[in-house]
Amino acid sequence: MMQAIRRVVITIVILGAIGAVGIGAFVYSGIYNIGADDHHTRPVFALLQTLRERSITVRARHVQVPDLEDPALILKGAGQYAAMCTQCHLTPGMKDSEIRPGLYPQPPNLARLRVAPGEAFWVIKHGIKMSAMPAWGGSHDDATIWSMVAFLQKLPDLSPKQYKDMVAKAPPDDDMDMSEMDRDGKAADRPAEQRAGSAVDQGGDAGDVPAMAMPAAPTSVAPPPAVKASHRRH
Ligand code: HEC
Repeated sequence: MMQAIRRVVITIVILGAIGAVGIGAFVYSGIYNIGADDHHTRPVFALLQTLRERSITVRARHVQVPDLEDPALILKGAGQYAAMCTQCHLTPGMKDSEIRPGLYPQPPNLARLRVAPGEAFWVIKHGIKMSAMPAWGGSHDDATIWSMVAFLQKLPDLSPKQYKDMVAKAPPDDDMDMSEMDRDGKAADRPAEQRAGSAVDQGGDAGDVPAMAMPAAPTSVAPPPAVKASHRRH
């Protein structure tokens, strides 16, 4: 009996060692094509897809979704989306971008696809490994990410014109670079109550300040009351 168990254990160890050497040889040989234009085989793609979906679903389960109907929150999200997401995820009426056809996996067209709020929040905050989707949580607080989620719920219903109008009215992305700052020339025209809810109260109207003299935009945002409750790390 002991003899038989010993034999099984030795066989498993030898097979394991052969497997490890095989994987090592495969990796080191360079046979695998890492190019983004060389697509996965169907079974590998299906496996990765399932891995990604399960990983997100399980993690998003504990995300508490705040009230996403607040118009100021949605408007803020429109500005964020226009500044950071359109090259990969497109806008209403936009057929494609220069970057998108070359990305693999290809980013979904979020002007067509509505992602459940909890999952969208988790993906935007944490990103997706081995894909082009960044973890925006590194540079944005939860309240700002919820504004993007709130806007994404409306995006598939917007016409190209409605989208443009909304972005034009949106508070500017407070993290955007100087070259985009001049879009903020409109800041002074916005109703005061809208600005009060936005992240850009920098003690004066940005439009009055020459672009180069702009102080670094603050990254912390006072979250709208509805969002505060879930303003925690997930
Ligand atoms: C450089 C390209 C790129 C940028 C910029 C980008 N994304 Fe993504 N995003 C991706 C890719 C690629 C995926 C799909 C990854 C996958 O399928 O594994 C993705 C996935 C997503 C998903 C999940 C979709 C689903 O089907 O579950 C959401 C939501 C999302 N992105 C939102 C955003 C938002 C909001 C922004 C802007 C703040 C943004 N992304 C910016 C590339 C990008």
